[in-house]
Amino acid sequence: MNQDEMKRAVAAAAIEYIKPGMIVGVGTGSTANFFIDELAKIKGQVETTVASSEASAERLKSHGILVEDLNMVDVIDVYVDGADEANKYLHLMKGGGGALTREKIVAAVSRQFVCIADESKLVDIMGKFPLPVEVIPMARSYVARELVKLGGQPAYREGFVTDNGNVILDVHGLEIMNPVEFENTLNGIVGIVTNGLFAVRPADVLLLGTPDGVKTIT
Ligand code: 5RP
Repeated sequence: MNQDEMKRAVAAAAIEYIKPGMIVGVGTGSTANFFIDELAKIKGQVETTVASSEASAERLKSHGILVEDLNMVDVIDVYVDGADEANKYLHLMKGGGGALTREKIVAAVSRQFVCIADESKLVDIMGKFPLPVEVIPMARSYVARELVKLGGQPAYREGFVTDNGNVILDVHGLEIMNPVEFENTLNGIVGIVTNGLFAVRPADVLLLGTPDGVKTIT
């Protein structure tokens, strides 16, 4: 199985978590795109969806799947999304696609968060993938200096603007020993909108694509 086949397999496995009448949160990225394509096959059973990015909303709509503004729903039953890194505690690093803020909001509103990823995303220590941090544009240099103080090497994601009109700093060189603590530390820096650690609210289920099939980690 190649990487895309593993992504497709976990996307198909995630459909098991979708029950008739549910409101489904939909993530962003190549793995989430496979999930959207699977969801299209059962779209008649879904009450509605909430998308974590404009790109995913467009893909959902192109399949004829309803997409609702988050403000129109009280709770999301299940949220399915990919990750850039995951550990065995279901802490995630996300934001490679730049949708981290809306993803974290959708995760917060969801009863169950099902993360789908191929096995290359499972790590012991997070930080090899540069940590995405969404920043208010005027705070970019200040936030970058603060990130250097924390041991990181921030790189400005050139030419990229988030769906919220902000910029991204990708922080290289981190070894994140305590993701919950580090997420909270970053939350305390003025000018950071969201950091890509999903540890305070981790996933509830990790479906991991391997050459031997899909492994479920809870
Ligand atoms: C987007 C994300 C994605 O979930 C993450 O980047 C993984 O993407 P892919 O499924 O393409 O590997 O957080 O902001």
